[in-house]
Amino acid sequence: MAYPILLNPFFLFISLFILLMHLPIHQAINGGFSVKLIRKNSTNAHSHKRLRDITQTNSFAYLGEYLLELFIGTPPINTYGILDTGSNLIWTQCVPCDNCYKQLAPLFDPKKSSTYTNISCLSTKCKLIDTGVCSPENMCNYTYGYGDSSITQGALALETITLNSSTGHSVQLNKVIFGCGHNDTGTFNDHEMGIIGLGRGPTSLIYQIGSSFGGRKFSHCLLPFNTDISLSSEMSFGKGSEVLGHGVVSTPLVSKGDINLYFVTLLGMSVEDTRFDISNNPETIRKGNMLIDSGTPPTILQQKLYDEVFNEVRKRVPMNPISDDPVLGPQLCYRTLTNLKGPKITMHFEGGDVKLTPIQTFIPPKDGVFCLAFTNTSNEDTGIYGNFAQSNFLIGYDLEKDVVSFKPRDCTK
Ligand SMILES: *[C@@H]1O[C@H](CO)[C@@H](O)[C@H](O)[C@H]1NC(C)=O
Ligand SMILES: *[C@@H]1O[C@H](CO)[C@@H](O)[C@H](O)[C@H]1NC(C)=O
Ligand SMILES: *[C@@H]1O[C@H](CO)[C@@H](O)[C@H](O)[C@H]1NC(C)=O
Ligand SMILES: *[C@@H]1O[C@H](CO)[C@@H](O)[C@H](O)[C@H]1NC(C)=O
Ligand SMILES: *[C@@H]1O[C@H](CO)[C@@H](O)[C@H](O)[C@H]1NC(C)=O
Ligand SMILES: *[C@@H]1O[C@H](CO)[C@@H](O)[C@H](O)[C@H]1NC(C)=O
Repeated sequence: MAYPILLNPFFLFISLFILLMHLPIHQAINGGFSVKLIRKNSTNAHSHKRLRDITQTNSFAYLGEYLLELFIGTPPINTYGILDTGSNLIWTQCVPCDNCYKQLAPLFDPKKSSTYTNISCLSTKCKLIDTGVCSPENMCNYTYGYGDSSITQGALALETITLNSSTGHSVQLNKVIFGCGHNDTGTFNDHEMGIIGLGRGPTSLIYQIGSSFGGRKFSHCLLPFNTDISLSSEMSFGKGSEVLGHGVVSTPLVSKGDINLYFVTLLGMSVEDTRFDISNNPETIRKGNMLIDSGTPPTILQQKLYDEVFNEVRKRVPMNPISDDPVLGPQLCYRTLTNLKGPKITMHFEGGDVKLTPIQTFIPPKDGVFCLAFTNTSNEDTGIYGNFAQSNFLIGYDLEKDVVSFKPRDCTK
């Protein structure tokens, strides 16, 4: 879900000089570290409306985000944010709250933290957010919007952020730029207390971590949608997060103007052995036509490719789809008591093929129903590779080599 509004030019300009600045994060240790990601079980059905994509199709109305646990401030206050490679700001809801959604834990109170530092609107840090403006007190007021029209607005500030590594020691990051959200709207559920942007831009968590942990890189292994809720997905930062060995497919990152996100190039897709190319002439394929986004559950395809894949999948599944489900809307869904025998789908990325099985391509929104986890966009330029398709892969982002790597893995192990 959570990628910034790509199509609105207002959100596009981030001046280049910003990228040259060094962001002060201390506490260098030699090795990297790992953290656990959590998926909260929520029965709050309306909370998932926001999973609809910008195309306004009836998309997936179920739980679909991965949460990263953070401790903010001094003393550290526990909070959870959506893991989002499709945006660049770290934010959480704060008091005083002009307009916040309900969340389980108390809101973060900057007045109770000894390390909270205001950022002046005259500071170069304020200009890292292109919507940073001066409040009447000359504080940096930011506004940050997402593809599903969620918006957070508040004060850009510096804080100490602590991550609890899976080995039990904690990793402290000082003077991290984050958004203290005072006016937050969107259909978030009460477990989602903010968003942790992991894009390539200067305010993202990975950019701010920098190379302190042995390189600006991270990887994650996301559990499939229907996995036991007590298990957690794993995410690693820095040294040790590399995706190596047999079966790794790497695809180059493409820079797309000032949008600091993970764009790669999709050449086409296959359903079993039937291949659909984005274009008959490889020369005309737009570089960076696919955004890799852990914050969007479904994979969103350009219309022509979507229609081709949809029709081929429909042809190859030896069952009649259910099409009249009022909750699911116009999706390709099947009702079966056994696991769906869906076709193998291959993503032909520049640099290699990522082979998906029904675990990544069909999600079971309710017992006995399996739906194709793809949807369509009228945006010819960019599709989105969502988090359902990313599950059961170790996916590594190397911001120094500018590649994203995929390796099939059982993330429950
Ligand atoms: C989520 O919680 C509901 C209600 O407590 C329960 O029926 C359901 O099985 C749970 N789902 C998972 C995946 O644990
Ligand atoms: C909150 O933000 C919305 C836009 O996101 C704006 O319309 C509204 O006026 C803001 N409310 C306050 C109290 O600042
Ligand atoms: C930050 O700015 C706000 C608004 O001017 C002020 O109320 C608050 O005391 C400041 N916090 C710190 C730690 O300086
Ligand atoms: C700054 O943000 C606060 C909190 O959202 C809001 O109440 C205030 O109106 C904003 N001020 C300006 C000048 O944008
Ligand atoms: C930190 O992680 C360790 C190991 O995963 C866990 O035992 C501990 O409870 C966690 N601490 C907090 C404060 O969450
Ligand atoms: C998605 O595809 C369906 C069926 O092909 C079509 O009716 C709908 O208009 C498309 N939506 C968008 C946003 O392109």
